[in-house]
Amino acid sequence: MYNFQYYTPTQVVFGKGAEQETGKQVKAWGGTKVLIHYGGGSVVRSGLLARVRESLQAEGIASVELGGAVPNPRLSLVYEGIALAKQEAVDFILAVGGGSAIDSAKAIAYGAADEGEVWDLYEHIRQAKAALFVGVVLTIAASGSEMSSSSVITKDEGMVKRGYNNNLCRPKFAIMNPELTMTLPDYQTACGCTDILMHTMERYFTNGGNMELTDTLAEALMRTVMKQAIILRDDPKNYDARAEVMWAGSLSHNGLTGCGNGGDDFATHGLEHELGGMFDVAHGAGLAAVWGSWARYVYRDCLPRFVRFAKEVLGVKADGTPEEIAVKGIEAMEAFFRSIHMPTSMKELGVEPTDEQMRRLAQMCAAAAGGKKGSAKVLYEEDMYRIYQMAR
Ligand code: NZQ
Ligand code: ZN
Repeated sequence: MYNFQYYTPTQVVFGKGAEQETGKQVKAWGGTKVLIHYGGGSVVRSGLLARVRESLQAEGIASVELGGAVPNPRLSLVYEGIALAKQEAVDFILAVGGGSAIDSAKAIAYGAADEGEVWDLYEHIRQAKAALFVGVVLTIAASGSEMSSSSVITKDEGMVKRGYNNNLCRPKFAIMNPELTMTLPDYQTACGCTDILMHTMERYFTNGGNMELTDTLAEALMRTVMKQAIILRDDPKNYDARAEVMWAGSLSHNGLTGCGNGGDDFATHGLEHELGGMFDVAHGAGLAAVWGSWARYVYRDCLPRFVRFAKEVLGVKADGTPEEIAVKGIEAMEAFFRSIHMPTSMKELGVEPTDEQMRRLAQMCAAAAGGKKGSAKVLYEEDMYRIYQMAR
């Protein structure tokens, strides 16, 4: 078992009506003037933004608002948010939305507390020294950003998508009312379930150590999300399924499923981030489109994990060689993705990169990772290119 550190400072307020607690939470963390940051308007249409505003007003907290965070949130809006936060002297950033609004809010929080160029953080040229406090009212179970130290921003020029991790931006609180996710399009619900699964799978497929407790927690989380994703496909208003998935989303990316196993592959995420940058696809769908090709490329180098995954998560019967069992597991996972209408190739995702573009994707992916990425198998630029080719 590896040594590990586990830090989850986020206050979780979970359940029906939880958004009414927003004002009290901001006050408890010392906020007096808030920048409310949201996405393309779903929170306006659902009436959530108005309820959040009321909750702040009830506690005497002033607020300004900035909408417009898009999936693969852009640096240009982050600059706008930083300027507004400084001009209005806000002392708290409140994201109301999904991973895109939350990540954009985190970037604004860095930039508003610090004079340096915020993109330098995402280029890993320097570390953040400060950030305004961030709080979240979550509307989609997916990214886990409501409890994570991570934020992923896309620079408009060249559409370069990069992530930056720092505990400074971990949200102080996360308001999680599963009912808020019932207005999601089915596609986004499925994308979210895929992303949640992948955050645990990226930690599970490791050539690091074993930790039985972590591994069995991870397996329970994956089985639960797969089961609930099917329930939500057929019954999108099922509250209990919404709740299970929402809590799984947070636990999948707050570090819990990586404790002690050295788990940190994240190659599929690296491959997807380049696709997201170049083609502006939904993150979860992009992950599903490349995962099977990644798995077929690496499974021999991480065989015990793939066998265990096949048996414990997908219920593959234990007859056949370890290689055969591993491949059956990969096939079963792809069948699951198809069953929730997720793509299992880039073509199904709706993108058909040229050979030159695949070379570019691989080059960017390797460069973003400092030359190599992965734990199940360490991948270099040529490996990444081959996986993109397999995923066509
Ligand atoms: O923008 P609005 O109008 O709100 O619409 C959004 C958007 O179109 C819509 N939506 C969200 N909640 C809704 C809703 N529509 C109706 N009812 C609701 N309750 O769904 C669409 C997707 O929203 P978005 O915030 O983009 O989704 P998600 O949470 O999947 O976030 C994706 C972003 O997070 C990054 C991804 O790369 C991507 O940029 N990630 C962030 C991570 C982190 N910070 O820890 C980790 C992840 O691996 C991921 O990379
Ligand atoms: Zn993800």
